[in-house]
Amino acid sequence: MKALVLSGGSGTRLRPFSYSMPKQLIPIANKPVLEHVLTAIRDIGVTDIGIVVGNQLRAISAALGDGSALGVRSTYIQQTEPLGLAHCVAIARDFLGDDDFVMYLGDNMLPEGVAAVAAEFRAKRPAAQVVVHKVPDPQAFGVAEVAADGSVLRLVEKPARPRTDLALIGVYFFTPAIHEAVSAIEPSARGELEITDAIQWLVARGETVRASEYSGYWKDTGRVEDVLDCNREVLRTLTRSVAADVDEVSEITGPVVVEPGARVVRSRIEGPAIIGAGTLVEDSHVGPHTSVGSHCVLRDTRLDDSIVLDGASLSRVRGLYGSVIGRSAAIATVPPPEAAPEAAPEAAPEAAPGAATGVTTGPRMASSRHRLVVGDHTRIEVAA
Ligand code: DAU
Repeated sequence: MKALVLSGGSGTRLRPFSYSMPKQLIPIANKPVLEHVLTAIRDIGVTDIGIVVGNQLRAISAALGDGSALGVRSTYIQQTEPLGLAHCVAIARDFLGDDDFVMYLGDNMLPEGVAAVAAEFRAKRPAAQVVVHKVPDPQAFGVAEVAADGSVLRLVEKPARPRTDLALIGVYFFTPAIHEAVSAIEPSARGELEITDAIQWLVARGETVRASEYSGYWKDTGRVEDVLDCNREVLRTLTRSVAADVDEVSEITGPVVVEPGARVVRSRIEGPAIIGAGTLVEDSHVGPHTSVGSHCVLRDTRLDDSIVLDGASLSRVRGLYGSVIGRSAAIATVPPPEAAPEAAPEAAPEAAPGAATGVTTGPRMASSRHRLVVGDHTRIEVAA
């Protein structure tokens, strides 16, 4: 069996991050969503993986390489325009050959894995096997009508009046029968070749199409709120591991990972939380439910329920929650203009090339709570 991961598309709902990175590279517990996806595929015994990418081939291949670090083999397939999920299958025809395959949407997270569904598909080999999940807003998804024995009666993409609350969620198993269906369908009203329509074509032809209900945690990481929610969920499963320099007065409680080369000085890390390699946390309180990427600098900062991407710096920023801070962004509290002494930019120790600097002079930001969603390379100074 092969795998096809869909990682093209535009991701506009994830602005401002999607201006500078593909949404599938947003980190959840310090690993890009796509890395979670490839690991989930490897865990069902599939290692030959085609990855459909749009205009972000360079960023995605820089993050994942040839897949060998994850124990898989990646083949990149370029899609010049996001013409739909079934279009991705069509352009991957040479890669897929006549093998069965699992198609996995590169922005969907199913942390509990799909081993049971894979086993069912391998045992019964229906033309298609979809994964469904009960959702409160089915009109935003492909929706399935499923008989008591698990066979699919009808599929409709984003119906105005859904007949069930069972959404298609990002993982599909196919035999090569799907290729004829993909070449038979027409673009939908939104101008895309819909995989939902191709599977419905198989149903209408009398082919066996089955649905398995997934009742674990699932998230389409399309919006900032979803990314934060997913981060909370994945952090819950962390196993404590502190492979870093933590001084005697610092306190680390609960499931916390501190990666090698990080330094924790006079600080408190409250799990679940992860601190990335080469990051400095000084005079700060981080967590719970917080991921800090690699080569960041946090000084005199209080942060919970948030994600900080690689190379960012936070200085005297107290009371941040529900925030996502972009790569190499710099946020600092500074004195009011009239009282401001010469601002002194401060570089991150062991910082990655291009890492941000922050301004650390002046009194602390008031201890009220703040939410920030800050894109890559942004610099914010807040007067105290
Ligand atoms: O999240 C589950 C839903 O995903 C299903 O319920 C729907 O039936 C299915 O059509 C899909 O709907 P979305 O509108 O949410 O799909 P989205 O445009 O977000 O694309 C899903 C992934 O596929 C995403 O990683 C981007 C990638 N993609 C998308 C298109 C349209 C491509 O690689 N190429 C494309 O042409």
